[in-house]
Amino acid sequence: MEEKIIIPGAESPEKKKKILSCIQPSGIPTLGNYLGALKNWKTLSDDFDSAFAVADLHAITVRQDPQKLRKQIMEVFALLLAIGLDPEKSIIFIQSHVPAHAQLAWVLNCYTQFGEMSRMTQFKDKSQSHADNVNVGLFSYPVLMAADILLYQADLVPVGADQKQHLEIARDIANRFNGIYGKTFTIPDPYIGKQGARVMSLQDPTKKMSKSDPNPKSYVSVFDTPETIMKKIRSAVTDSEGGVYYGEGKDGVNNLMGIYSCCTGLDYEQIANEFQGKGYGDFKNAVGEAVVEELRPVRERYDMYMKDQAYLKEMAAKGAATASRIADRTLQKAMKKCGFVLP
Ligand code: TRP
Repeated sequence: MEEKIIIPGAESPEKKKKILSCIQPSGIPTLGNYLGALKNWKTLSDDFDSAFAVADLHAITVRQDPQKLRKQIMEVFALLLAIGLDPEKSIIFIQSHVPAHAQLAWVLNCYTQFGEMSRMTQFKDKSQSHADNVNVGLFSYPVLMAADILLYQADLVPVGADQKQHLEIARDIANRFNGIYGKTFTIPDPYIGKQGARVMSLQDPTKKMSKSDPNPKSYVSVFDTPETIMKKIRSAVTDSEGGVYYGEGKDGVNNLMGIYSCCTGLDYEQIANEFQGKGYGDFKNAVGEAVVEELRPVRERYDMYMKDQAYLKEMAAKGAATASRIADRTLQKAMKKCGFVLP
């Protein structure tokens, strides 16, 4: 599967490409989720026809506490607005508010082979980490994800490495369905932006930063206070060599450089110059401050939206209404082709 670097507007100036992505409401995202994905969504929403959803149906593939889930769904929805997505410009919605997702997922389940699902590495990993609850939803999760994408006829899907295999399956399912019934779904391509930062754990920079890491010092959450952010960055693992430059065997420093680069726009050479002759203490303080400033406006907007639950509900309803119109059209088309009698 080839990664497409699309120059916005260059291919067809009159019609923008469609892009869709979703985020699971499984806790407050980390700095890694923010710099690696969410921050880019804002840019994408300027360049493409965009839809972004809170993938709450996906979340119950692992057991959730209902009260916590309810809270997290609205928190993540508010976060989508807080990162600067504009409900006038993008379709921003909660997946379960658009029944077509579950409906198309059922149909597509019947066009997906048990064998191909069994090969999904995330399923294999998760069925080990949640051995007491290897449910059928966990198994067919990529089919629901395919439905999310195909319903909007998305041309592009920004995905991280861990979701590439799922996108590939979505393409396979779409191709198969189109092969049987004629063109029904757009075949989605992965979208890899200019720099999708891969932020690593602050305590073990060989591992990806993750909110499920048992050591909270290993990640910065997007809503950590400035003091906490500074403390966590200051205690990040580096090396004993003492030089601020990008290099082999310097995973910790490389990671902090990546974070600093994303927040300031400086490249590695400029960063190395800035800290020439200075120690890790100075460097870490600068990284910490850059992260604090990066997240400050997100945090402020988030607090503002969370105080106005009525507005959030109104925006969620508006997003769901627009999403439903598009999704229902595709669902009906697909169901008609299968031989269903439409109501
Ligand atoms: N599976 C994705 C994740 O866990 C979330 C997701 C659900 C998604 N549906 C999607 C991402 C559709 C892109 C497109 O991160």
